[in-house]
Amino acid sequence: MKKNSTENVWRVLGLESSCDDTAASVLKIVDNNKEKKVEILSSIVFNQNKLHVNFNGVVPEIAARAHCEKIDICTKEALKKASLSIKDIDLISVTSGPGLIGGLLSGVMFAKGLARGLKIPLIGVNHLAAHCFSVKIFHKINFPYLTLLVSGGHCQFLIVKNVDSFVRIGGTIDDAPGECFDKIATFLGIGYPGGPLVELKSKNGNENRFPFPKPLMDNTCNMSFSGLKTAVKRETEKLIANQGGLYHVDVEDICASFQKTTSEIFKYKTMNAIKFFNNNFEGDKNLAIVGGVAANKKIRHELQKVAFQNDFKYLTVPAQYCTDNAAMIAYLGFEKFILKNHNNLDLVVKPRWPLDQTSTPILGFGKRGAKA
Ligand code: KG4
Ligand code: ZN
Repeated sequence: MKKNSTENVWRVLGLESSCDDTAASVLKIVDNNKEKKVEILSSIVFNQNKLHVNFNGVVPEIAARAHCEKIDICTKEALKKASLSIKDIDLISVTSGPGLIGGLLSGVMFAKGLARGLKIPLIGVNHLAAHCFSVKIFHKINFPYLTLLVSGGHCQFLIVKNVDSFVRIGGTIDDAPGECFDKIATFLGIGYPGGPLVELKSKNGNENRFPFPKPLMDNTCNMSFSGLKTAVKRETEKLIANQGGLYHVDVEDICASFQKTTSEIFKYKTMNAIKFFNNNFEGDKNLAIVGGVAANKKIRHELQKVAFQNDFKYLTVPAQYCTDNAAMIAYLGFEKFILKNHNNLDLVVKPRWPLDQTSTPILGFGKRGAKA
């Protein structure tokens, strides 16, 4: 860290390997005790899509091996892009959970080795918390704030109160929306990962052709997507049985109708979450949308309208920082480190690590409770 009388300059290395993206990022953070200026010097992501495409999902052992093979190369590239040497790094932040244990171990062991060799502090962070904090890289925002975290494995409404204090006010009782985008893309035969491809096909589709169901339209913040996914599958099978296959226009209309239905579920549930926030919390009214599915333009646009109609400020991040990246890991690590100033060289990985440890498991989370 470079210090002068008025400000501290930090260079933080972030490392991410919890699922199927190996990522490294370097942030420069100028902290003058009143505010922090964050600059993303580099953010490198090596995705593993090609390795998993034939299995229609992430294979944990293949993912772990690929992280092991790539994490040092990824880190070198992040340093090169930032025009820095490893000796310029002041702090290392690594994802230590939740996620696939092999991937988490690859990242944490690598980070420990580096931190010990360089004699610099190491901090372990929760991947989901890092998604929630990603908006703070781009916006000045006070606690508490309302967040919709929506990705390939998770979907939750959270109130973010601090670096390690989150209140979960609702979430999916079954599938995560990103998983549905991926599965639908697979059975439509358009590729993997499905989110960006379904969005692309939706562009020219008729979003009103298929009135898909919207389950769980009650006054809670819980959501359900598995019935919607099954309805899309049935409609596809029906078309194939009747026509002997799918025309391009069918694929486009199915994608657009599914995307519209999903964004309507989010719209409705976000209104419930806003009501909950207004009734239970004081302070600025901020709505953050984060996680891979938050990259979807239609969903972003609809939720921006909901925020505006309810006098909430709408906050999100550029699409490449919605999906998994290490800039968000570096940023949360920094916030945690300056608050608690502890070194995590004895860090252990936590494949299950719920953000809100106190709220009761949502129905559908399974016998062992929430993973995250
Ligand atoms: O946050 P993320 O990179 O990884 C997890 O932590 O899960 O999210 C990945 C998910 C995938 O399911 C992907 O299909 C989805 O985000 N996704 C999208 C879009 N881009 C990525 N879903 C809808 N529209 C998109 N444009
Ligand atoms: Zn993620």
